[in-house]
Amino acid sequence: MQKQFSVSIIGCGSRGCDVYGRLFSQQPERFHIAALCDIRPERLERFGKLYNTRQLFTDEEEFFRERRSDALVIATQDRDHVRMCLRALQLGYTVLLEKPVTPDKAQLKELLAAAERSAGKVLVCHVLRYAPAFVRAKRILESGAIGDLVLIDALEQVAYWHQAHSFVRGNWRNEEETSPMLLAKCCHDLDLLQYYAGSAADKVYSTGGLTFFHRGNHPADAAERCAECRYLHTCAYSAERLYIERWKAQGMPKDGWPYNVIALAPNTEESLRAAYENGPYGRCVFCCDNDVVDHQTVSVSFANGVKAQLTMTAFTERCGRRYTFHGTLGELQLDETRDLLLLAPFGGKQERWRISDLVAAARSQGHGGGDTGTVAAFYDLLCGKEREETMLERSAESHFIAYAAERSRRAGIAVDMANER
Ligand SMILES: NC(=O)c1ccc[n+]([C@@H]2O[C@H](COP(=O)([O-])OP(=O)(O)OC[C@H]3O[C@@H](n4cnc5c(N)ncnc54)[C@H](O)[C@@H]3O)[C@@H](O)[C@H]2O)c1
Repeated sequence: MQKQFSVSIIGCGSRGCDVYGRLFSQQPERFHIAALCDIRPERLERFGKLYNTRQLFTDEEEFFRERRSDALVIATQDRDHVRMCLRALQLGYTVLLEKPVTPDKAQLKELLAAAERSAGKVLVCHVLRYAPAFVRAKRILESGAIGDLVLIDALEQVAYWHQAHSFVRGNWRNEEETSPMLLAKCCHDLDLLQYYAGSAADKVYSTGGLTFFHRGNHPADAAERCAECRYLHTCAYSAERLYIERWKAQGMPKDGWPYNVIALAPNTEESLRAAYENGPYGRCVFCCDNDVVDHQTVSVSFANGVKAQLTMTAFTERCGRRYTFHGTLGELQLDETRDLLLLAPFGGKQERWRISDLVAAARSQGHGGGDTGTVAAFYDLLCGKEREETMLERSAESHFIAYAAERSRRAGIAVDMANER
């Protein structure tokens, strides 16, 4: 018989409750949701009912007054993570902490020191480490099938609509409130690059900026809100098109991302339209208080000689990662938009897998199967079987690379990682 653990969630938003809460509730033999904390009472009410949880808190102070369960998920916004995780470690929780850990290097170091002193454990949600296709890619590299790895070419295709939703109108639009875009969107990529390279970063160089989503591109005859704009049905970024037309084209999901972010599920055409007409998601993409970049490149040289080039861009039709691994004896491609993992040994027979088949075979879901894998790793950790991949100490490296890349991008210099950790 499996051991059941009690788990609480602070930050009952998209990740906390729509993803982890749902996954926990699907595994009642392993998890019981003991308490929920969120400043939005309507989320507490909805998920309290769904998960049959009676301990509901709107106040962080009251929630942290005592320990509520064996484990805690921290899925609040980026700048709240360290404050809450320090409290959680003091109370002896085993923590599942959303990424990025923090945009602030000093805070990351403070948390690392506290975690080292504490008996508590922190697993960071670098979910792609558990996604079947990304794991398979690592195994293929380790097998020597492409010889020695020389270079990784990584493309993070944010997609125009996702950029508008999350990084222009939404939660991750402004660095003061959240994190630099590289950390928010690409700490997974930076984590994976050093995992695949099998080495620590040595030098980092980055370029990028915000070229498109600013007032300078606002047409003189356009309105500041989509609902009043003459381009409501023609602008690629119009809220009507992103939240109504796209939603309809996807079969009008009652509870699907990103629609359940702008209006509380179950979603209807009326609730979505009211949300964008009256809320932040109906602002013109050229008239928001956003300052995060819309494209960025990062070049990393690793201590073992492997090089990596990461490109993140808003300007893609579809969302997904495309990684190409160049080895001395072959090439490996992982392409989420083509649902393809392709091994091409030079002069040899190609092998190909559909990423969706790998995910289905692992019975996984979310982020290419990574969300399910993360919850399984968290369960293992609670059972005392620590899997090192995404423990806090391991996850710090991707953040140090991101901090260095941001310094490089702003100063226009290459950064030596020797003094960056
Ligand atoms: N692992 C991944 O791949 C991944 C993907 C997306 C987002 N994230 C990260 O997950 C975290 C949460 O993102 P999200 O999309 O769920 O955001 P969200 O806005 O949907 O959820 C955050 C929730 O925290 C609540 N909250 C804010 N302040 C609070 C406080 N003081 N006490 C209690 N609750 C509070 C908000 O009301 C909201 O419900 C972020 O750090 C984000 O960067 C990770």
